[in-house]
Amino acid sequence: MDLGLKGKVALVAASTKGLGKATAAALASEGAEVIINGRDRQNINDAAEEIKSRTGQSPFTVQADVTKAEDIDRMFDEIAARFGTVQILVTNAGGPPAGGFDDFTDDQWMSAVELNLMSTVRLIRKAAPFMKKERWGRIVNIVSLTVKQPIDNLLLSNSVRTSIIGLAKSISKDLARDNVLVNNIAPYYVSTKRIDYLMEQPATRLGITKEVAMKNIVNEIPLGRLGTPEEFGNLVTFLCSDKNSYLTGSTIQFDGGAYKGIF
Ligand SMILES: NC(=O)c1ccc[n+]([C@@H]2O[C@H](COP(=O)([O-])OP(=O)(O)OC[C@H]3O[C@@H](n4cnc5c(N)ncnc54)[C@H](OP(=O)(O)O)[C@@H]3O)[C@@H](O)[C@H]2O)c1
Repeated sequence: MDLGLKGKVALVAASTKGLGKATAAALASEGAEVIINGRDRQNINDAAEEIKSRTGQSPFTVQADVTKAEDIDRMFDEIAARFGTVQILVTNAGGPPAGGFDDFTDDQWMSAVELNLMSTVRLIRKAAPFMKKERWGRIVNIVSLTVKQPIDNLLLSNSVRTSIIGLAKSISKDLARDNVLVNNIAPYYVSTKRIDYLMEQPATRLGITKEVAMKNIVNEIPLGRLGTPEEFGNLVTFLCSDKNSYLTGSTIQFDGGAYKGIF
């Protein structure tokens, strides 16, 4: 199937590792002009090299911290100077720290809002005018299964990420007139570096090893394993493609069947 992605300009934010990097590689392998981003220059160079060796495509790179408005402005200046447009945007950032209600100060709450909500707002604010002008665009927000089913001890993720769902649903209606489709993907546990960090908390709390904590999680997943970043990248790539022409305002869980609700 030709996904119609050849030559499409695609920014994947926070994409030097994990889900972002796998998404950038999947888009590049379909012929998109991919822009990757992160805070650390060495990570950026390593990811660009890896994507080139896997797909034959050299990504355009921008060093920027998505929690800083001025970095996002500069990133779009660099993209506009190189490509003149952005047609696909995948919003992403690091995850907020794990913990419960008694663990966080106001400053930590506000940092999570900056990291996850405001980065998404600012990235979309800069990308949407290009997409409207093109009368074609795809926006996919990487969120978490926490938006459908809160996860123990991930209070900041459980709370802040749901605001992205409200944002996406609201703007999907306005942008639909210009053929700009906006969707969210809600991963459960996918085998990236963040998983190692996330296992530390239940392991310490329950006095078990990280391996046992992981086994407990895998036991809750009907497909009996974690998702891979590559499988995740494939789903995002479909949503960003021409073949997704009618799905907008939706949140799709990527969870091996772990979500316990019906809708
Ligand atoms: N993996 C999972 O199972 C899972 C499940 C649910 C939700 N999520 C969420 O999905 C997102 C991606 O997760 P992941 O597992 O791919 O994480 P990861 O492997 O830790 O990768 C995070 C990426 O984001 C970049 N990054 C972090 N903060 C940034 C910032 N302020 N500005 C620009 N780039 C930044 C990092 O690069 P630098 O450090 O070089 O900047 C890195 O490339 C996170 O929000 C995570 O909480 C993940």
